[in-house]
Amino acid sequence: LGNMTEAELYFSYKGVYVPKLIHSPESFSFLENFPFRHDDILVVTYPKSGTTWSQEILPLIISDGDMTPVLTIPNWDRMPWLEEHRALKLNLEQRPSPRLFVTHCHYYMMPESFFKVKPKVIYIMRNPKDVFTSSYPFYAMASYMVNPGTKDEFLEKFLDGTVIFGSWFDHVKGWLGAKDQVNIMYISYEEMILDLRASITKISHFVGKSLTQEVTEKIADHCMFTNMKQNKMSNYSLVSSEILDQKKSEFLRKGVIGDWKNCLTEDQVARFDSVYKERMKDVNFKFIWDE
Ligand code: A3P
Repeated sequence: LGNMTEAELYFSYKGVYVPKLIHSPESFSFLENFPFRHDDILVVTYPKSGTTWSQEILPLIISDGDMTPVLTIPNWDRMPWLEEHRALKLNLEQRPSPRLFVTHCHYYMMPESFFKVKPKVIYIMRNPKDVFTSSYPFYAMASYMVNPGTKDEFLEKFLDGTVIFGSWFDHVKGWLGAKDQVNIMYISYEEMILDLRASITKISHFVGKSLTQEVTEKIADHCMFTNMKQNKMSNYSLVSSEILDQKKSEFLRKGVIGDWKNCLTEDQVARFDSVYKERMKDVNFKFIWDE
């Protein structure tokens, strides 16, 4: 398995690689024809930017802090990816509003109904060096991903976008460009780490919920890395070790800001910075990691 190539494990959809185990042409066609509701809530992320975390936070905001959904339903069913096989089986049209979804799709991959209906979107961004640092062990522990090779090799693939869901730069630039066309809130993984309570309040206002201080604190406490990691409905321990080998690297790995400093050499940082500078030169957004 460790030697399987992109051609064997992935297929291309609208110019990006996606793993065959999780997606199919049918699953993307489901997304293309998906009838959104205006009160749907969609979290959009580039992989390894806080998706699983959002699948804990949003259901708890909507349930007013009632733990039942997060303690009884796996993250991938309580807040499913719209582009995965699994979405086809979940009877999403039967779910009461507000429905909660995640997607890793680029802006240009979103279907017609999305632009007509304008559901609420929360776009979570993370320092790409930490995204890289989180991705590297993930590609090695997930059987459906191409083995990352050496760190230098994987760095070139990451910077080039020949990884699943394509380029981080294109993903972020595409969704930042969405500002006026869709109902969108931007937040970063870093903001969530630095002040989880304030982030929960910000998200809950955006989705039209007002929580008491007590409930906000209860949610923040449960969603802290060390606590959430104990939740078997969210830590991927329900997935067989043949698919996700958590002995190699845990899915909820470290949950910190700046682990790239332990991962990248000086040369790799310089290489990253030069590509970052070039690819982001036309972006005006103030990223917390650039400050
Ligand atoms: P690390 O590998 O840096 O630890 P995604 O869910 O988009 O795949 O992102 C996974 C990353 O989010 C992992 O980063 C994981 O540990 C982190 N993460 C998940 N839950 C978290 C939480 N409650 N607090 C902080 N980080 C969390």
